[in-house]
Amino acid sequence: MRILVIGSGGREHALAWKIAQSPLVKELWATPGNPGIGRVARLLDVKGEDLEGVARAARSRAIDLVVVGPEGPLCSGLADRLERDGVPVFGPSAAAARIEGSKAFAKEVMAAAGVPTAGHAVFTELEPALAHARAHGGRIVVKADGLAAGKGVVVCQGMAEAEAALTAMLVERVHGSSGARVLLEELLEGPEASVIALADGERVRLLPAAQDHKRVADGDQGPNTGGMGAFSPTAHVTPAVEREVEERVMLPALRELARRGAPFRGALYAGLMLTPRGIRVIEFNCRLGDPETQPILMRLQGDLVPALLAAARGDLSGVTLRVDPRAAVGVVLAAEGYPGRVASGDAIAGAEADLGPDVQIFQAGTARSADGTLVSSGGRVLTVTALGADLAAARARAYDALSRIRLRGSHYRRDIGVK
Ligand code: AMP
Ligand code: GLY
Repeated sequence: MRILVIGSGGREHALAWKIAQSPLVKELWATPGNPGIGRVARLLDVKGEDLEGVARAARSRAIDLVVVGPEGPLCSGLADRLERDGVPVFGPSAAAARIEGSKAFAKEVMAAAGVPTAGHAVFTELEPALAHARAHGGRIVVKADGLAAGKGVVVCQGMAEAEAALTAMLVERVHGSSGARVLLEELLEGPEASVIALADGERVRLLPAAQDHKRVADGDQGPNTGGMGAFSPTAHVTPAVEREVEERVMLPALRELARRGAPFRGALYAGLMLTPRGIRVIEFNCRLGDPETQPILMRLQGDLVPALLAAARGDLSGVTLRVDPRAAVGVVLAAEGYPGRVASGDAIAGAEADLGPDVQIFQAGTARSADGTLVSSGGRVLTVTALGADLAAARARAYDALSRIRLRGSHYRRDIGVK
C-alpha cells in the first residue's frame, strides 16, 4: 500500500512511526511532516488546508489511504475532497468534524443522543453572558465556540476572571470569529481522561485510555496549552468505565451523527471528567489527541494499518486491537516562552539518538537548518515517550532520556504521570 499522512506534529510522527512498521506498506509519504517524520516517510511540501494540493499529491502518487492528523484540514473538508476522488481517508467529513469545530453543535448532538455532559448556555452578547456568570457566582467555564488551538477555554473561579474572559472573547475578539459565540458551562470537578475510539460510522474500537496534562507548569499551574504530556493507562478508566464510555458516549454520538447524515469515520476523541456524579463529556475532538497518541501508539501491538483502513472503509467488524500491558509516558519538551510567543531556530542536541525500542523521541516543532542541524521551530518541540513495566518505570525512562537532550531555554513538566 501507499499511505499519506497529513500533519507535522508529535502525533503525526507517532502515526508515521507506527504505520512504517506495517508489512503492508510499500511507500509512506507525509505532508508537510517534520525532520523526525522524514526519517520514516518521504516528505511533501503541501499544507493540509490546501485541499486541491493534497488531492493532486494523492492522485499523482497513487495513494491508497490518507491518514489525517489535525482537525483543521478535516473541518475544512479534506476528507470530502479526497473521497470525491475515491481515495479512502482516515478522518471524518467536514459535517462530522463539526463535533469538534463547533462546541455548540457538539452540545446539540450530545443533548439529542443523551450523552452525559456539563450544563451550558450559549451567548453572543456581553451583558446577558455576564448576568449568567453572576448567577453562578463566577464559578463557570467560558469556551469559545470555534477552533482556538486548545486555548479557547477559561476555567473561572470568580466574577473577575469570568468578566475578563468574556470581555476578551466577545468584545476584544482575541480568538477572532471563533470567540464571537461563547458557551458558559457548569464547572465540573474530578479527574480527567481521554478516551479515543476508532470509528467506522457505526462501530467503535477503543484505544487504551490516556490522561493529558493541559496546564503548562507542574501541579497543574499556569495557562492551558495544547498538552504538556500524557500517559496510559490511567487507573481512573477501569474496564467498567470503558464499557460505559462505549455505550453511553461513543455509540450514541455515532448514531446521532449518522442520523443527521454525517457518519463519523476516523478517530472520535472524548475528553471526559470523572465526576462524583458519573462520567461527563467535556469535549469531543474529531481526531487523535496530541500528545495522547504518542504513549497510546507505543502501547498498541500489531499492525495499525488494517484498523485505519477498516475505519476509513466503514467496516471495523473484523478488527481487534492488542494492547501492551506495560505503561507509557510521553513528556513534551517545549520551547522558551510556550504557550506564549516562542523562540525558534535554536539548536537541539540529543533528539535523534537511538535509545532502544522502549524510548521514542517524537518530533513536532523542529526543522533542519541549512547546515543540517536540528533546530526548534515551534512551541511543542518534542514528545519524549517511554514504555516501562509500570507508570513509575516508564516515567523514569522518559525523564532519563529527556535529561540527555539540550535546547536553550526549553522547559518541561516534571510531574507527568504522577497524578
Ligand atoms: P478543552 O479545550 O475543552 O479540552 O478544555 C480545556 C480544559 O478545561 C479541560 O481539559 C478541563 O481541564 C477544563 N474544562 C473544560 N470544561 C470544563 C468544565 N465544564 N468544568 C471544569 N473544567 C473544564
Ligand atoms: N491533548 C488534547 C488534544 O489533543 O486535544
